[in-house]
Amino acid sequence: MLSEQSARTVRATLPVVGGAIEEITGAFYGRLFAAHPELLRDLFNRGNQADGSQRQALAGSIAAFAGALVAHPEQRPDAMLARIAHKHASLGVTAEQYQVVHTHLFAAIVEILGDAVTPEVAAAWDEVYWLMANALIAIEQRLYEQSGTRGERRPYTVAARTAETADVATFLLRPADGGPVPAHRPGQYVSVQVELPDGARQIRQYSLSGNPEGALQITVKRVAGDPDGEVSTFLHRHVDEGAVLQVGAPFGDVRLADGERPVLLASAGIGCTPVIGMLTHLAETGATRRVIAVHGDRSESAHAFRDEFEQLVAKLPNAEAHVWYEHPEAERPADRTGLVDLTGLDVPADAVAYLCGPLPFMRAVRTRLLAAGVPAADIHYEVFGPDLWLGQDD
Ligand SMILES: Cc1cc2nc3c(=O)[nH]c(=O)nc-3n(C[C@H](O)[C@H](O)[C@H](O)COP(=O)(O)OP(=O)(O)OC[C@H]3O[C@@H](n4cnc5c(N)ncnc54)[C@H](O)[C@@H]3O)c2cc1C
Ligand code: HEM
Repeated sequence: MLSEQSARTVRATLPVVGGAIEEITGAFYGRLFAAHPELLRDLFNRGNQADGSQRQALAGSIAAFAGALVAHPEQRPDAMLARIAHKHASLGVTAEQYQVVHTHLFAAIVEILGDAVTPEVAAAWDEVYWLMANALIAIEQRLYEQSGTRGERRPYTVAARTAETADVATFLLRPADGGPVPAHRPGQYVSVQVELPDGARQIRQYSLSGNPEGALQITVKRVAGDPDGEVSTFLHRHVDEGAVLQVGAPFGDVRLADGERPVLLASAGIGCTPVIGMLTHLAETGATRRVIAVHGDRSESAHAFRDEFEQLVAKLPNAEAHVWYEHPEAERPADRTGLVDLTGLDVPADAVAYLCGPLPFMRAVRTRLLAAGVPAADIHYEVFGPDLWLGQDD
């Protein structure tokens, strides 16, 4: 709950702070990494720093949180924090680190806004920061307790590596100490840390793409580009059966809810991984609910898990599969050509939907679902990067 005086000050200064928030977060990361280079090397994703997406996600989340607070000062808008807290927990962020972030964030605010930051303005924004930070710390504490970890990683041995397509490989990971595999819900992900040739120990998240006995299974697409993706390329080039990877406990707020409601699973490209995890769970638990599984890909040969997708759907008594390929190949045409388009599908308004794929794909699917009467609250989505959708209004 934001005090009345701070709510007035935040409301009055929101346009100025909001307008400069990306500049502020840019200055913040500059200061944070100058003081703590180890955080950029071994905790933050340096690809997301280079392309600015993490800066945008942080700025967007603060602006959305502050906006929600001044609209309803009596409430704390915790709902929008779950995704961030799960990501933080998967990385092992600690309560003490919030003080470090506070120091550099407020120094950045003063650097960018100068004299506009009167003691009153600083105090009001300090209150916003700690409301957000304490809410995150509390959720993360609960997640740590539930997982029985502090978000630390432990060694897993690669028990098998399977090629799914030319660019996609599955890694079967068994705890190196022979211990049990942590519990997880379909849709969740793990953080994987690898030591790169320059000594940096970079971390990335990978969704669990199945539920094998005594192991975790992840499936990684090699990101080619300029430059190539650091961790995915390393995994593809250097990690084979017998290698040891540092892997965290499963986290993630996008989890398939059990129940009888119809479910729509929509994925595109490598976004198939959590959906395959969810379909596996539905098949293993003998689900009889209606399932509409939709996937879009560039072509059949780019489509990872295409056989599993069909087989899992065939195991479910009340499920249907629809596949779109942008460039179908002669041997095995898709149901449909082009981009995924739900127009012709019968999606019940009481369906609960899970989407995973590139943002334009998810936006298009979401628009169709809203038009079909599916409430926004029942449309869940996973983004394979910093969430630039956070706090959006419908
Ligand atoms: C919850 C979640 C689940 C995920 N699940 C999966 C999954 O199941 N399977 C999967 O394959 N992926 C998944 N991902 C994505 C995965 O975590 C990685 O983001 C992905 O593997 C790319 O990482 P990378 O290190 O190879 O690329 P990065 O090195 O992080 O690069 C990413 C992009 O940034 C660009 N870039 C990097 N450095 C620079 C620079 N200096 N200048 C300009 N551009 C630069 C690269 O060209 C590339 O396009 C998931 C992500 C999240 C958040
Ligand atoms: C109130 C304070 C904070 C806010 C508002 C915040 C906000 C965010 C947001 C919005 C994301 C992106 C989430 C996503 O979409 O996946 C994120 C990721 C992250 N945060 Fe925080 N955060 C805070 C504090 C911290 C602290 C104290 C640390 C530890 C030093 C930290 C480390 C990280 C890391 C490492 C990531 C992942 C970055 C990446 O993969 O690029 N954050 N945070």
